[in-house]
Parts: sequence; structure tokens; C-alpha cells
Amino acid sequence: MISKEMEQLLNEQLNKEFYSAYLYLSMVAYFEDKNLKGFANYFKVQVQEERDHAMMFFRYISHVQGEIKLQQIDQPNLVFNSPLDVFKEAYKHELFVTKSIYSIVDLSLDERDHKTNAFLQWFVSEQAEEESNMDDNIKKLQLIGDDVRGLLLLDSELLTRTYTPAANPAMPAE
Ligand code: FEO
Repeated sequence: MISKEMEQLLNEQLNKEFYSAYLYLSMVAYFEDKNLKGFANYFKVQVQEERDHAMMFFRYISHVQGEIKLQQIDQPNLVFNSPLDVFKEAYKHELFVTKSIYSIVDLSLDERDHKTNAFLQWFVSEQAEEESNMDDNIKKLQLIGDDVRGLLLLDSELLTRTYTPAANPAMPAE
């Protein structure tokens, strides 16, 4: 069992994770339009990861006998000015998600809900990694500046990113 307040925050997080997938899909569209296949690949992997995160919340709410309440997914930004602009927006979004995860962790501590706290710990580490990855790419793009060759080199590097299904050790078996 979880509290009604916890159920609500977990459902909101489920929605935020699907929104993240949608936002990153809009970034895939931007890069495909520019024929930057490596950048598009990077965000395609990101979309898959966000979908995994959303489904973890879905499964967890169900596992603890909560009620799943699917909400409308907002329209993401569809206009970007540059690859750097995309990564800055992605980084800003990950900071927002981290704050949101932290507020659920805070509630789990207030309620002494240790099971939900254990479930959330994976997300705390994951957020640190996601912030760091976005920040890494921002720094590379700032160094590249207007150098097209540098941009194409980074595009080749990002083409090598592959999707590995996320594994949260606190998840119940399917
Ligand atoms: Fe699931 Fe990138 O936060």
C-alpha cells in the first residue's frame, strides 16, 4: 500500500517520464530534419530510456496496489535554434525531473515509506548520470562553436550510442 499523496506524485512522475520521451522525440525530429544522424540516434536512445522510466512507475504503482491515473501529455517544444540549444533544453529538463524525483523521495522519507524510497534510489543515480551526459555534450558543443567538422565528428561519436534496457534492482519481477 502507498498513501494517496504518494500515489498522486507517482502518477504525475509517470506522466513526466512520458513527456520526457515526447520532448526527446521532438529533438529526434529536429536532428533528422538536419540529417545529423548521430544526434538523432542519441535522442532516439533517450526516448527509449524515458519510456522505460515511465513504465517502471506504471509497474510500481500497480505492484503496490495503487491506482494508475493516466493524464494528458503536454505538447513538447518543436522549435530549436541549434544543436547547442537542444542540449541546453535537455539539460534544463533533466534538472526539472531531478527536482521532481527528489520531492517524491522527500515524501517517502516523511511517510517512512521505505519500499518506495528503495524504488526511487535508482532514479536518483540515473538523474545524476543524465544531467552529467547532457552537460558533457553542452561543453563539447561550446568548444566546437561554428566548426562544422567538429560538429560532424561529434555526430559520428553520438551514432555509437546504443540502447540498453534499464534495470532497477528494486523493481518487482514482471
Ligand atoms: Fe527519466 Fe531523463 O528522466
